[in-house]
Amino acid sequence: MEIKQIASWLLALTFIACSQLGYADEVSSIVRGGKLYDKWYAVIGAAKPDGTHPAWPASNTKKKGATTHRCKSCHGWDLMGKDGAYASGSYKTGISGLTQLQGASNTKVIAALKASTHGYAGKMSDEDFTDLANFVTKGQFDIDAVIDRSSKKAKNGNPSKGESYYNTVCMNCHGKTGTEPDGMPALGALSNKNPWEVIQKVMNGQPDSEMPAMRAFGLQVSVDILSYVQTLPKE
Ligand code: HEC
Ligand code: HEC
Repeated sequence: MEIKQIASWLLALTFIACSQLGYADEVSSIVRGGKLYDKWYAVIGAAKPDGTHPAWPASNTKKKGATTHRCKSCHGWDLMGKDGAYASGSYKTGISGLTQLQGASNTKVIAALKASTHGYAGKMSDEDFTDLANFVTKGQFDIDAVIDRSSKKAKNGNPSKGESYYNTVCMNCHGKTGTEPDGMPALGALSNKNPWEVIQKVMNGQPDSEMPAMRAFGLQVSVDILSYVQTLPKE
């Protein structure tokens, strides 16, 4: 083999190794961003925000206080805002979704977060902003391809695979039938009522808990889990 050829192989191998490393870092950043999107103040251990977020519309009097500061409350678990599950119901705000930002630059997202509409400047660290931006620009998937919007059922999930994932990963904390821990809605009920929330929690984990994130195993694993938990008892 010629020296030149060996050199180019080495270069290629280094490139592959580096991009793999980059991938791992990126997935963990997206996962943390997903938890921040869910409830940033719980993730960073900040005090619950006081009062209702200034961008929360006065037309919605059903929700107030800390929950109106969570990204998911205004932009939805499906990141589709007024065009998604929050088109109606107690979280109806008329605010746009963020799906157009998959593939966009992080700079744009971070600028939006620090601008006056949101007012998050000074409330989170640079790392938090980067993780949130990675979630918004790189962590989205076509949610309507995996959850049927009208029946709310998981699409193309394999419940039998989901059952084995559940029994090996989730059961220790949530019990065989998904009714633990005490005080949490049964997974069978929650997953049929709000499958968009459940898929995000399964992909990214639960803020402020030891619950693992399944994102690194690929979307299909989470869809299989969702399809199984939808068969669990509702109470
Ligand atoms: C109280 C409601 C509210 C909360 C909470 C909220 N946003 Fe927004 N967001 C808005 C509004 C309003 C806009 C402007 C777009 C519109 O009017 O529909 C916006 C716009 C954005 C944009 C720019 C969209 C674009 O196309 O350029 C991004 C990115 C964004 N939000 C991300 C987030 C993230 C991430 C969080 C959580 C850290 C968050 N938002 C929390 C109300 C909210
Ligand atoms: C190490 C323990 C642990 C494991 C393992 C775990 N979870 Fe959790 N999970 C929790 C805790 C703690 C909560 C928060 C409970 C509460 O809100 O009372 C939670 C919350 C949730 C929620 C949100 C419930 C809500 O009302 O917001 C869902 C959905 C969920 N888990 C699904 C799963 C699934 C599916 C798995 C397996 C892939 C799993 N969890 C694995 C500990 C765990």
